[in-house]
Amino acid sequence: MRRGQGKKRLIVVAALLALTLFFSFTVVAAEDFPRLIHLSWQNDPASTMTIMWRSEPEAEGIVEYGEDFAQSVQSEPFRYRFGRTQVCWQIAEITDLEPNSTYHYRLKTSEPWESEEYSFKTAPAKGEETSFKFVIFSDVQGGYEAFQQAAPKIKAENADILLYLGDFTRSSSQEEYDLWLESGATIFTDVPLMSVRGNVDGPNYLDQFAFPGNERWFSLDYGNVHFLFLSTMLEDEVIEQRPWLLNDLKENDNPWVIAMAHKPAFGSGSQNGPEQYIVDNWVDLFEEYGVALYLNGHEHSYERTFPLKGGEIDEKGITYITTSSTGDEFYPAVRTWLTAQAEGEPCYMVFTVEGSVIHGIAKGTLDDSILDEFELKLR
Ligand SMILES: [Fe+2]
Repeated sequence: MRRGQGKKRLIVVAALLALTLFFSFTVVAAEDFPRLIHLSWQNDPASTMTIMWRSEPEAEGIVEYGEDFAQSVQSEPFRYRFGRTQVCWQIAEITDLEPNSTYHYRLKTSEPWESEEYSFKTAPAKGEETSFKFVIFSDVQGGYEAFQQAAPKIKAENADILLYLGDFTRSSSQEEYDLWLESGATIFTDVPLMSVRGNVDGPNYLDQFAFPGNERWFSLDYGNVHFLFLSTMLEDEVIEQRPWLLNDLKENDNPWVIAMAHKPAFGSGSQNGPEQYIVDNWVDLFEEYGVALYLNGHEHSYERTFPLKGGEIDEKGITYITTSSTGDEFYPAVRTWLTAQAEGEPCYMVFTVEGSVIHGIAKGTLDDSILDEFELKLR
Protein backbone atom coordinates (compact mmCIF):
# COMPACT_ATOMS: atom_id res chain seq x y z
CA MET A 1 0.00 0.00 0.00
CA ARG A 2 1.34 3.42 -0.99
CA ARG A 3 1.72 5.95 1.85
CA GLY A 4 -0.76 8.55 0.37
CA GLN A 5 -3.51 5.95 -0.06
CA GLY A 6 -3.13 4.89 3.61
CA LYS A 7 -3.45 8.50 4.74
CA LYS A 8 -6.65 8.97 2.69
CA ARG A 9 -8.14 5.80 4.16
CA LEU A 10 -7.28 7.03 7.66
CA ILE A 11 -9.07 10.32 7.01
CA VAL A 12 -12.19 8.46 5.74
CA VAL A 13 -12.21 6.15 8.80
CA ALA A 14 -11.77 9.13 11.15
CA ALA A 15 -14.61 10.99 9.39
CA LEU A 16 -16.89 7.92 9.65
CA LEU A 17 -16.00 7.55 13.33
CA ALA A 18 -16.78 11.22 13.97
CA LEU A 19 -20.13 10.85 12.15
CA THR A 20 -20.99 7.72 14.16
CA LEU A 21 -20.14 9.53 17.41
CA PHE A 22 -22.16 12.58 16.34
CA PHE A 23 -25.21 10.47 15.56
CA SER A 24 -24.91 8.42 18.74
CA PHE A 25 -25.02 11.72 20.71
CA THR A 26 -28.01 12.82 18.63
CA VAL A 27 -29.75 9.52 19.43
CA VAL A 28 -29.13 10.00 23.18
CA ALA A 29 -30.61 13.48 22.98
CA ALA A 30 -33.57 12.34 20.82
CA GLU A 31 -34.45 9.42 23.10
CA ASP A 32 -34.34 11.47 26.27
CA PHE A 33 -35.84 9.91 29.39
CA PRO A 34 -38.09 11.54 32.02
CA ARG A 35 -35.90 13.78 34.19
CA LEU A 36 -38.42 13.79 37.08
CA ILE A 37 -37.39 17.28 38.19
CA HIS A 38 -38.65 18.22 41.63
CA LEU A 39 -38.04 20.89 44.26
CA SER A 40 -37.91 20.64 48.05
CA TRP A 41 -36.14 22.10 51.08
CA GLN A 42 -33.30 20.69 53.13
CA ASN A 43 -32.81 23.99 54.96
CA ASP A 44 -34.51 27.36 55.48
CA PRO A 45 -37.33 27.76 52.88
CA ALA A 46 -36.75 31.55 52.83
CA SER A 47 -33.14 31.33 51.63
CA THR A 48 -32.56 27.92 49.99
CA MET A 49 -33.98 25.56 47.39
CA THR A 50 -33.02 21.96 46.59
CA ILE A 51 -33.50 20.59 43.07
CA MET A 52 -33.36 16.90 42.13
CA TRP A 53 -33.40 15.41 38.65
CA ARG A 54 -32.31 12.24 36.88
CA SER A 55 -29.30 11.78 34.63
CA GLU A 56 -27.16 9.05 33.09
CA PRO A 57 -25.00 7.44 35.83
CA GLU A 58 -21.73 9.19 34.99
CA ALA A 59 -23.10 12.60 34.05
CA GLU A 60 -22.23 15.82 35.83
CA GLY A 61 -24.82 18.54 36.32
CA ILE A 62 -25.33 22.21 37.13
CA VAL A 63 -28.23 24.51 37.94
CA GLU A 64 -28.08 27.96 36.37
CA TYR A 65 -30.34 30.51 38.07
CA GLY A 66 -31.05 34.16 38.73
CA GLU A 67 -31.07 37.08 36.34
CA ASP A 68 -29.77 35.98 32.90
CA PHE A 69 -28.94 32.64 34.55
CA ALA A 70 -25.68 34.22 35.63
CA GLN A 71 -25.34 32.24 38.84
CA SER A 72 -24.79 28.52 39.02
CA VAL A 73 -24.33 25.67 41.43
CA GLN A 74 -22.95 22.21 40.71
CA SER A 75 -25.05 19.15 41.57
CA GLU A 76 -23.93 16.07 43.50
CA PRO A 77 -24.76 12.67 41.98
CA PHE A 78 -26.65 10.16 44.13
CA ARG A 79 -26.45 6.69 42.60
CA TYR A 80 -28.06 3.40 43.61
CA ARG A 81 -29.45 0.25 42.09
CA PHE A 82 -33.08 -0.86 42.57
CA GLY A 83 -33.51 -4.37 41.11
CA ARG A 84 -32.25 -4.03 37.56
CA THR A 85 -32.67 -0.28 37.47
CA GLN A 86 -29.55 1.84 37.83
CA VAL A 87 -30.64 5.19 39.21
CA CYS A 88 -28.71 8.44 39.25
CA TRP A 89 -30.22 11.56 40.84
CA GLN A 90 -28.48 14.90 40.53
CA ILE A 91 -29.06 16.93 43.71
CA ALA A 92 -28.26 20.63 43.93
CA GLU A 93 -28.96 23.00 46.80
CA ILE A 94 -29.07 26.72 46.05
CA THR A 95 -28.33 28.90 49.09
CA ASP A 96 -28.21 32.63 49.98
CA LEU A 97 -31.49 33.40 48.22
CA GLU A 98 -33.73 36.36 49.08
CA PRO A 99 -37.02 35.61 50.91
CA ASN A 100 -40.37 35.81 49.10
CA SER A 101 -38.64 36.05 45.70
CA THR A 102 -39.08 34.31 42.36
CA TYR A 103 -36.01 32.81 40.69
CA HIS A 104 -35.72 31.40 37.19
CA TYR A 105 -33.60 28.30 36.70
CA ARG A 106 -32.49 25.75 34.15
CA LEU A 107 -30.58 22.48 34.45
CA LYS A 108 -27.69 21.16 32.39
CA THR A 109 -25.91 17.82 32.35
CA SER A 110 -22.80 16.62 30.54
CA GLU A 111 -24.62 13.93 28.51
CA PRO A 112 -25.29 16.55 26.98
CA TRP A 113 -28.80 17.66 28.02
CA GLU A 114 -30.43 20.95 28.90
CA SER A 115 -33.82 21.51 30.54
CA GLU A 116 -36.43 24.09 29.69
CA GLU A 117 -36.55 27.19 31.87
CA TYR A 118 -38.57 27.00 35.08
CA SER A 119 -39.02 29.14 38.16
CA PHE A 120 -39.50 28.74 41.90
CA LYS A 121 -40.42 31.04 44.78
CA THR A 122 -38.73 31.23 48.17
CA ALA A 123 -40.75 31.48 51.41
CA PRO A 124 -41.48 34.76 53.19
CA ALA A 125 -39.07 35.27 56.09
CA LYS A 126 -39.96 33.41 59.28
CA GLY A 127 -42.71 35.23 61.20
CA GLU A 128 -43.78 37.41 58.23
CA GLU A 129 -47.53 37.62 57.74
CA THR A 130 -47.36 37.44 53.93
CA SER A 131 -50.34 35.40 52.72
CA PHE A 132 -49.62 32.14 50.93
CA LYS A 133 -51.31 29.02 49.64
CA PHE A 134 -50.57 25.34 50.12
CA VAL A 135 -52.14 22.29 48.53
CA ILE A 136 -52.34 18.91 50.23
CA PHE A 137 -52.86 15.62 48.43
CA SER A 138 -52.35 12.00 49.41
CA ASP A 139 -52.56 8.24 48.88
CA VAL A 140 -52.26 8.06 45.07
CA GLN A 141 -51.14 4.48 45.66
CA GLY A 142 -51.17 3.19 42.08
CA GLY A 143 -53.89 5.57 40.79
CA TYR A 144 -51.42 7.39 38.52
CA GLU A 145 -53.94 8.07 35.75
CA ALA A 146 -56.33 9.72 38.23
CA PHE A 147 -53.46 11.76 39.67
CA GLN A 148 -52.34 12.80 36.18
CA GLN A 149 -55.88 14.05 35.52
CA ALA A 150 -55.94 15.97 38.81
CA ALA A 151 -52.46 17.48 38.26
CA PRO A 152 -53.53 20.34 35.91
CA LYS A 153 -56.22 21.36 38.43
CA ILE A 154 -53.65 21.36 41.25
CA LYS A 155 -51.26 23.36 39.05
CA ALA A 156 -54.01 25.92 38.34
CA GLU A 157 -54.30 26.61 42.09
CA ASN A 158 -50.91 28.39 41.89
CA ALA A 159 -49.89 27.07 45.30
CA ASP A 160 -46.66 28.09 47.00
CA ILE A 161 -46.09 24.64 48.54
CA LEU A 162 -47.29 21.10 47.83
CA LEU A 163 -47.69 18.80 50.82
CA TYR A 164 -48.11 15.07 50.22
CA LEU A 165 -49.35 12.91 53.09
CA GLY A 166 -47.85 9.54 52.18
CA ASP A 167 -48.55 6.25 50.35
CA PHE A 168 -47.15 7.09 46.93
CA THR A 169 -47.16 3.64 45.34
CA ARG A 170 -48.54 0.12 45.71
CA SER A 171 -45.26 -1.81 45.77
CA SER A 172 -42.68 0.93 46.56
CA SER A 173 -40.74 -0.03 43.41
CA GLN A 174 -38.53 2.50 41.63
CA GLU A 175 -40.77 2.17 38.55
CA GLU A 176 -43.80 3.24 40.60
CA TYR A 177 -42.03 6.20 42.21
CA ASP A 178 -41.01 7.25 38.70
CA LEU A 179 -44.65 6.97 37.55
CA TRP A 180 -45.80 9.05 40.52
CA LEU A 181 -43.25 11.78 39.77
CA GLU A 182 -44.07 11.68 36.05
CA SER A 183 -47.82 12.03 36.74
CA GLY A 184 -47.27 15.34 38.53
CA ALA A 185 -44.24 16.47 36.50
CA THR A 186 -45.85 19.72 35.30
CA ILE A 187 -46.29 20.97 38.88
CA PHE A 188 -43.10 19.66 40.48
CA THR A 189 -40.74 21.80 38.34
CA ASP A 190 -42.11 25.03 39.90
CA VAL A 191 -43.65 24.27 43.30
CA PRO A 192 -41.63 22.73 46.17
CA LEU A 193 -42.97 19.41 47.41
CA MET A 194 -42.67 18.27 51.02
CA SER A 195 -44.07 14.95 52.22
CA VAL A 196 -44.41 12.45 55.02
CA ARG A 197 -43.87 8.72 54.69
CA GLY A 198 -46.90 6.40 54.45
CA ASN A 199 -47.16 2.79 55.56
CA VAL A 200 -46.71 1.40 52.04
CA ASP A 201 -43.64 3.57 51.36
CA GLY A 202 -40.52 1.40 51.70
CA PRO A 203 -37.09 2.64 52.83
CA ASN A 204 -36.41 3.66 49.19
CA TYR A 205 -39.00 6.48 49.64
CA LEU A 206 -36.12 8.35 51.26
CA ASP A 207 -34.02 7.99 48.05
CA GLN A 208 -36.57 9.87 45.92
CA PHE A 209 -36.66 13.15 47.83
CA ALA A 210 -34.38 15.50 49.76
CA PHE A 211 -35.66 16.75 53.13
CA PRO A 212 -34.18 18.30 56.30
CA GLY A 213 -32.86 16.37 59.29
CA ASN A 214 -33.36 12.62 59.27
CA GLU A 215 -36.06 13.12 56.56
CA ARG A 216 -38.51 10.99 58.56
CA TRP A 217 -39.50 13.81 60.92
CA PHE A 218 -38.62 17.50 60.73
CA SER A 219 -40.15 20.96 60.92
CA LEU A 220 -40.08 24.04 58.67
CA ASP A 221 -41.13 27.66 59.09
CA TYR A 222 -42.91 29.21 56.13
CA GLY A 223 -43.90 32.81 56.93
CA ASN A 224 -46.00 32.76 60.08
CA VAL A 225 -46.62 28.97 60.01
CA HIS A 226 -44.56 26.31 61.76
CA PHE A 227 -45.09 23.04 59.83
CA LEU A 228 -44.41 19.72 61.57
CA PHE A 229 -43.75 16.70 59.33
CA LEU A 230 -44.14 13.55 61.45
CA SER A 231 -43.84 9.83 60.90
CA THR A 232 -46.60 7.47 62.02
CA MET A 233 -45.16 4.33 60.39
CA LEU A 234 -44.93 2.35 63.66
CA GLU A 235 -45.76 2.89 67.33
CA ASP A 236 -42.03 2.72 68.24
CA GLU A 237 -41.27 5.57 65.87
CA VAL A 238 -44.13 7.66 67.29
CA ILE A 239 -42.70 7.15 70.82
CA GLU A 240 -39.17 7.92 69.55
CA GLN A 241 -40.32 11.28 68.15
CA ARG A 242 -41.86 12.56 71.41
CA PRO A 243 -38.70 14.18 72.93
CA TRP A 244 -37.86 15.75 69.55
CA LEU A 245 -41.46 16.99 69.19
CA LEU A 246 -41.49 18.49 72.70
CA ASN A 247 -38.23 20.33 72.06
CA ASP A 248 -39.33 21.53 68.64
CA LEU A 249 -42.65 22.88 69.97
CA LYS A 250 -40.92 24.57 72.91
CA GLU A 251 -38.53 26.38 70.57
CA ASN A 252 -41.22 27.45 68.10
CA ASP A 253 -42.23 31.10 68.15
CA ASN A 254 -44.49 31.18 65.09
CA PRO A 255 -48.20 31.73 65.85
CA TRP A 256 -49.63 28.99 63.61
CA VAL A 257 -48.58 25.36 64.14
CA ILE A 258 -49.74 22.77 61.60
CA ALA A 259 -48.80 19.12 62.13
CA MET A 260 -49.05 16.43 59.49
CA ALA A 261 -48.49 12.69 59.28
CA HIS A 262 -49.86 9.76 57.30
CA LYS A 263 -52.14 8.12 59.88
CA PRO A 264 -55.11 9.68 61.72
CA ALA A 265 -55.12 10.46 65.45
CA PHE A 266 -58.88 11.07 65.49
CA GLY A 267 -61.40 10.14 62.83
CA SER A 268 -64.45 8.02 62.13
CA GLY A 269 -63.13 6.04 59.17
CA SER A 270 -63.09 2.29 59.66
CA GLN A 271 -61.18 1.29 56.53
CA ASN A 272 -57.85 1.81 58.32
CA GLY A 273 -58.97 3.64 61.44
CA PRO A 274 -57.25 6.14 63.78
CA GLU A 275 -54.27 5.07 65.90
CA GLN A 276 -54.57 5.33 69.69
CA TYR A 277 -50.74 5.38 69.98
CA ILE A 278 -50.71 8.77 68.22
CA VAL A 279 -53.23 10.13 70.74
CA ASP A 280 -51.27 8.66 73.66
CA ASN A 281 -47.87 10.01 72.61
CA TRP A 282 -48.47 13.33 70.85
CA VAL A 283 -51.89 14.87 71.48
CA ASP A 284 -51.11 16.28 74.98
CA LEU A 285 -48.12 18.13 73.44
CA PHE A 286 -50.24 19.35 70.51
CA GLU A 287 -52.81 20.72 72.99
CA GLU A 288 -50.25 22.31 75.30
CA TYR A 289 -48.23 24.00 72.55
CA GLY A 290 -51.07 25.33 70.41
CA VAL A 291 -51.18 23.06 67.35
CA ALA A 292 -54.20 24.31 65.38
CA LEU A 293 -54.48 21.66 62.71
CA TYR A 294 -53.44 18.02 62.28
CA LEU A 295 -53.52 16.77 58.68
CA ASN A 296 -53.36 13.13 57.63
CA GLY A 297 -54.24 10.69 54.83
CA HIS A 298 -54.40 6.86 55.00
CA GLU A 299 -58.18 6.51 55.14
CA HIS A 300 -59.06 7.15 51.45
CA SER A 301 -62.15 9.17 52.42
CA TYR A 302 -62.52 12.79 53.58
CA GLU A 303 -63.31 13.91 57.12
CA ARG A 304 -62.91 17.11 59.15
CA THR A 305 -63.56 16.89 62.88
CA PHE A 306 -65.00 19.58 65.14
CA PRO A 307 -62.20 21.15 67.19
CA LEU A 308 -61.22 18.60 69.84
CA LYS A 309 -59.53 19.01 73.22
CA GLY A 310 -59.16 16.38 75.96
CA GLY A 311 -61.07 13.94 73.76
CA GLU A 312 -64.13 16.22 73.57
CA ILE A 313 -65.53 18.89 71.26
CA ASP A 314 -64.08 22.21 72.42
CA GLU A 315 -63.91 25.42 70.39
CA LYS A 316 -60.36 25.95 71.68
CA GLY A 317 -59.34 22.51 70.40
CA ILE A 318 -57.45 21.10 67.42
CA THR A 319 -59.10 20.43 64.05
CA TYR A 320 -58.17 17.00 62.65
CA ILE A 321 -58.46 16.54 58.90
CA THR A 322 -58.24 13.27 57.01
CA THR A 323 -57.78 14.10 53.35
CA SER A 324 -59.01 11.54 50.84
CA SER A 325 -56.95 9.77 48.18
CA THR A 326 -55.94 11.81 45.12
CA GLY A 327 -55.84 8.51 43.19
CA ASP A 328 -58.67 6.13 42.25
CA GLU A 329 -59.20 4.06 45.40
CA PHE A 330 -61.66 5.64 47.83
CA TYR A 331 -64.26 4.54 50.39
CA PRO A 332 -67.65 5.75 51.64
CA ALA A 333 -67.76 8.50 54.27
CA VAL A 334 -68.31 7.55 57.89
CA ARG A 335 -69.79 10.02 60.41
CA THR A 336 -69.65 9.88 64.20
CA TRP A 337 -69.98 12.38 67.10
CA LEU A 338 -66.74 14.17 66.14
CA THR A 339 -67.52 14.64 62.43
CA ALA A 340 -68.00 18.20 61.19
CA GLN A 341 -67.90 17.12 57.55
CA ALA A 342 -67.24 13.83 55.72
CA GLU A 343 -67.34 12.76 52.05
CA GLY A 344 -66.47 9.49 50.35
CA GLU A 345 -64.75 10.90 47.27
CA PRO A 346 -61.18 11.42 46.06
CA CYS A 347 -59.93 14.98 46.55
CA TYR A 348 -57.13 17.45 47.11
CA MET A 349 -57.21 20.42 49.48
CA VAL A 350 -56.27 24.09 49.15
CA PHE A 351 -55.33 26.19 52.22
CA THR A 352 -54.87 29.95 52.12
CA VAL A 353 -53.03 31.47 55.08
CA GLU A 354 -53.87 35.14 55.59
CA GLY A 355 -52.37 36.39 58.83
CA SER A 356 -54.55 35.11 61.65
CA VAL A 357 -57.05 33.32 59.38
CA ILE A 358 -56.68 30.08 57.42
CA HIS A 359 -59.23 29.28 54.76
CA GLY A 360 -59.53 25.62 53.75
CA ILE A 361 -61.33 23.96 50.88
CA ALA A 362 -61.56 20.30 49.82
CA LYS A 363 -62.08 19.81 46.08
CA GLY A 364 -63.40 16.54 44.68
CA THR A 365 -61.36 15.28 41.73
CA LEU A 366 -64.19 13.24 40.14
CA ASP A 367 -66.49 16.15 39.26
CA ASP A 368 -64.77 19.30 40.61
CA SER A 369 -67.35 19.48 43.44
CA ILE A 370 -66.60 21.31 46.69
CA LEU A 371 -66.54 18.67 49.44
CA ASP A 372 -65.87 21.07 52.29
CA GLU A 373 -65.07 24.69 53.00
CA PHE A 374 -64.13 26.16 56.39
CA GLU A 375 -62.16 28.83 58.21
CA LEU A 376 -59.79 28.62 61.18
CA LYS A 377 -58.94 31.63 63.32
CA LEU A 378 -55.81 31.96 65.41
CA ARG A 379 -56.67 31.37 69.07
FE1 LIG B 1 -51.81 4.24 54.27
